[in-house]
Amino acid sequence: MTDSTAASQPSGGPELAQERRLTTAIPGPRSQEVAARRGAAVARGIGSTMPVFVERAGGGVVVDIDGNSLIDFGSGIAVVNVGNSAEAVVARVQEQVARFTHTCFMVTPYEVYVDVCEALNRLTPGDHEKRSALFNSAAEAVENAVKIARAYTGRQAVVAFDHGYHGRTNLTMALTAKNMPYKHSFGPFSPEVYRAPMSYPFRDGEVDGAAAAKRAIDLIEKQVGADNLACLVIEPIQGEGGFVVPAPGFLPALAEWCRRTGAVFVADEIQTGFCRTGDWFACDNEGVVPDLITTAKGIAGGLPLAAVTGRAEIMDAPHVGGLGGTYGGNPVACAAALGAIETMESLDLPARARSIGDTMTARLREMAERYDVIGEIRGRGAMIAVELVRPGTREPDAAIAGAVAKACHAEGLIVLTCGTYGNVLRFLPPLVMPDHLLEEGLTILDKAFAATA
Ligand SMILES: Cc1ncc(COP(=O)(O)O)c(C=O)c1O
Repeated sequence: MTDSTAASQPSGGPELAQERRLTTAIPGPRSQEVAARRGAAVARGIGSTMPVFVERAGGGVVVDIDGNSLIDFGSGIAVVNVGNSAEAVVARVQEQVARFTHTCFMVTPYEVYVDVCEALNRLTPGDHEKRSALFNSAAEAVENAVKIARAYTGRQAVVAFDHGYHGRTNLTMALTAKNMPYKHSFGPFSPEVYRAPMSYPFRDGEVDGAAAAKRAIDLIEKQVGADNLACLVIEPIQGEGGFVVPAPGFLPALAEWCRRTGAVFVADEIQTGFCRTGDWFACDNEGVVPDLITTAKGIAGGLPLAAVTGRAEIMDAPHVGGLGGTYGGNPVACAAALGAIETMESLDLPARARSIGDTMTARLREMAERYDVIGEIRGRGAMIAVELVRPGTREPDAAIAGAVAKACHAEGLIVLTCGTYGNVLRFLPPLVMPDHLLEEGLTILDKAFAATA
């Protein structure tokens, strides 16, 4: 996509300039004022990466209430793949919100919910007969995938993976690997959740995915028992865990083992989905067809919506009335999803994600030659990260990741950290970001490394 293509998509308002602009120090005086009010009004458990408050956003920028225009390498944690306030999302939301805002699909259903389910059934991997169910948050979708798998198999055990992240509700905290900050002091957690070793080639040295899968399967067979396993839940590329890309062959081997043993293979594509990795879904890369797939984030251009999609016979296992929720598949969120999907299709955002990935990877490779704290560059499409280590070792260096991120923030570039060891810088620009902002963001990152590494 050229700059002019992105500019012709009036996101965040037609006149929102696609430029980095610093009018004050970060944070500016207005943001500091609101931060003081926030301290007295908002629970401290809810943290924020950036010290600024947002006024508007669109394309590749977020503008704060002091007038600073920041380059967005976070997309609100992989949500606004189509950009903030994308034109088709705004149009469909405005039309829907003026007609009706809520009736509850479980009381008086509406067509736009069915439209979204049809789109999900069409776009997700595999051409078998599918069904979908809609929810509010991603964690709720993961919880429901487990409910559905248990109802279908009549079994209880669930296996998740080292470094995995699946949410902050009680069951999803149990599935999530990392203690701090997600689980600490919040137990006890849901029972019948087990953890298997992930394929993490940079740290486990195993580049043969089938061998890494065998290691996980052996553990599951010995410690859980295949006959007890309802489902295996895995992110095809781990998000919060550090953009961990498993060795080729790992996911296909696990999916095949699930097929043989009758466990449901659940792909959590909440962070990887909707064009982010250069395919519609990350499973597409190796032709893996999950039994169930959970989606959210990129699905609706920023409105809260999540889904479980999968094989009709599995999805239809729970009894009538067993699934649902007051707001699940809210009509305004569904309208937004149709606008987001239309945008992804019309702008061919999988291709744009691949091109963003090529640009980022080339620039990061140059940086890795100059900054020996960069231990590995990994990811796929527009989901790219660098893992930072003490030079000459693989020892994680979270302090340097924090320092580089902070230096980027001060220069008006939003970047996020992640990883079990807190030493990964991750880059998730909106897929409609114009090239000049992508390049400028990478130059700021380069300078941040030069100043701190
Ligand atoms: C893979 C994955 N699953 C689940 C979740 C939970 O999402 P939510 O915060 O919307 O519940 C996330 C959020 O980052 C995620 O990345």
